Amino acid sequence: MTVLLETPSPAPVESRARRRRYLMCPPDHFGVRYVINPWMDPGRAVDRGLAHRQWDILRRTYLDLGHTVELIPALPEQPDMVFAANGGLVIDGCALGARFVHPERAGEAPAYLDWLRVAGLRPVGAEHVNEGEGDLLVVGAGADRVVLAGTGFRTSREAHAEVGRRFGVAVVSLRLVDPRYYHLDTALAVLDDRTIAYHPAAFSPASRRALRRLFPDAVLAGAQDAAVLGLNAVSDGHHVVLAAQATRLAGQLRERGYQPVGVDVSELLKAGGGVKCCTLELRP
Ligand code: ARG
Repeated sequence: MTVLLETPSPAPVESRARRRRYLMCPPDHFGVRYVINPWMDPGRAVDRGLAHRQWDILRRTYLDLGHTVELIPALPEQPDMVFAANGGLVIDGCALGARFVHPERAGEAPAYLDWLRVAGLRPVGAEHVNEGEGDLLVVGAGADRVVLAGTGFRTSREAHAEVGRRFGVAVVSLRLVDPRYYHLDTALAVLDDRTIAYHPAAFSPASRRALRRLFPDAVLAGAQDAAVLGLNAVSDGHHVVLAAQATRLAGQLRERGYQPVGVDVSELLKAGGGVKCCTLELRP
C-alpha cells in the first residue's frame, strides 16, 4: 500500500496576499539624459515605445492580481519620473514627501507632493534628503511595523530620524556600499510582514550583521539576480512581481511558498530602475 504523506500546505493565497493600492507614473517622457547612477549611459539609445509597453504590462500585472493602480501624469522635463517609488512614503494614510539629492530630479518632489495632497494623503514636505520608498521600506503592520532605511548614496541619516518622528515607527538604518545598489530597494525586497530578501554584498558589514539578526530566515539573493535588479520587487504577501531575468531568485521564492511573477522591464533598467522603482505603495 502506498501512503502519500501530505506536507502541510501553505496558507491559502487569499489569506496571505493583501490587496494593495499603488501609484505609478507613465514613462511618457522617459529617457537617460544625465548620469546619477552607474547604470545610466546617455550614449545608449532608449526605446521609449518599448519602455511604455513594458511599463504597461507591469501595470496590468498589478490589476490582474487584484490591486488598484493610480496614475500621476509625467512631467516633460523629468525623464526619471516613471520611478514613482521615489516620490514619497505613505503609511496609515499619511505621507512624507521626497527631497531628492540630485538637482536633476528635484522638480519631481512638488509634483508628487501635490498629487498626494489631492489624494487626501496629508503629505508634509521633508526637511532632510530622502528618496521615498527607494530607500524607505516598510516591514510589518501596526505595532510591529519597522521601516528599513537605506543610506550611503541618497537618503541621509537625518531623514531616517525624520521618518521615525513623522510616523512614530521604529527605523533601522542600513548602509549601502556598492554604487550599483544606490537605493535600498535595489538590494532588498520586502516579501511579507516578517520576511525579506536581500543581497548581502550590497551592505556594510555592520548592516549585514543587523539584517542577519533581525531576519534570520531571509532569502539571500546572489550576485546574478541582484545584477538584473531582481530584488527591486513588489510583493503583496504572496505574489512577488520581479524582473523576469531573475530566474534563480524566482526559484528560491517558489521554494519558500511565494508565487513569483516575472515581468521584463529591461528598457527601464537603462536608467537603473526596475519593478519596485516604478511603484509607490499608498498604505491606507
Ligand atoms: N535614474 C533614477 C535615479 O538614479 C532611477 C531611480 C530608481 N528608483 C528606485 N526606487 N530605485 O534616481
